[in-house]
Amino acid sequence: MIIAANLKTNLTRKQTRLYVNELETYIKQNNIKQDILVFPATSSLDIHSGKVVLGAQNAYPTQNGAFTGEIGLDQLEEFLIKTVLIGHSERRHVLGESQDELVKKFNYYKDLGFKIIYCVGEPLEKREAGKEEMMKYIASQYEGIDTSYENLIIAYEPVWAIGTGLTPTLEDIELIHTDLKEKSHAPLLYGGSVKVTNAKEVLELKNVDGILVGSAALYSEHFCTMIQFAQDISQ
Ligand code: 13P
Repeated sequence: MIIAANLKTNLTRKQTRLYVNELETYIKQNNIKQDILVFPATSSLDIHSGKVVLGAQNAYPTQNGAFTGEIGLDQLEEFLIKTVLIGHSERRHVLGESQDELVKKFNYYKDLGFKIIYCVGEPLEKREAGKEEMMKYIASQYEGIDTSYENLIIAYEPVWAIGTGLTPTLEDIELIHTDLKEKSHAPLLYGGSVKVTNAKEVLELKNVDGILVGSAALYSEHFCTMIQFAQDISQ
């Protein structure tokens, strides 16, 4: 299974190093065989060797250049980063990234062989508009994306479930994941208010290959508990 932590704009460089080291200690002591990904803030990216794979939360589709506030391939290569999150709902809805821009990023990092965690998910008004409308919206987020890319992981994160404590029912998650698996056979993660209290049930669902965790992952002990759930379920 794939257990991923999106640290968003949290933790300093020093705190991130400590955090990743705590995960490594747990992984080693408990002989964890799952894939563990951590997406730190850009300023906390670093060379890291161990079981935890560090990825960027965002990157511009360029080697370098005049793109104020962005980072490109040169900055990722400095830290041997080969994993990138593309299309997170906060990039789409807070920072206004369009599908076209995301497709450009996707293609650029795909051509370089990066592992891409591509996020999809509907805002509340689309969910409330009914299943057909909602699936149409999610389908539009697949437009231009090579869904058979070998290093692709997809994360389904309903926008209204992110950071709110709300989640779809387990039944809903399983149904949507089953639908989304028809669009791509890539591993499919669920994200949105995953906590220690619900992670096990979510990980047990059919067509859920892992989780992408935000706020609850900021506590290494909580994140390690979720890693352990995945390990137990996989055995
Ligand atoms: P929360 O776990 O805080 O809801 O965030 C989920 C998320 O956005 C992970 O990418």
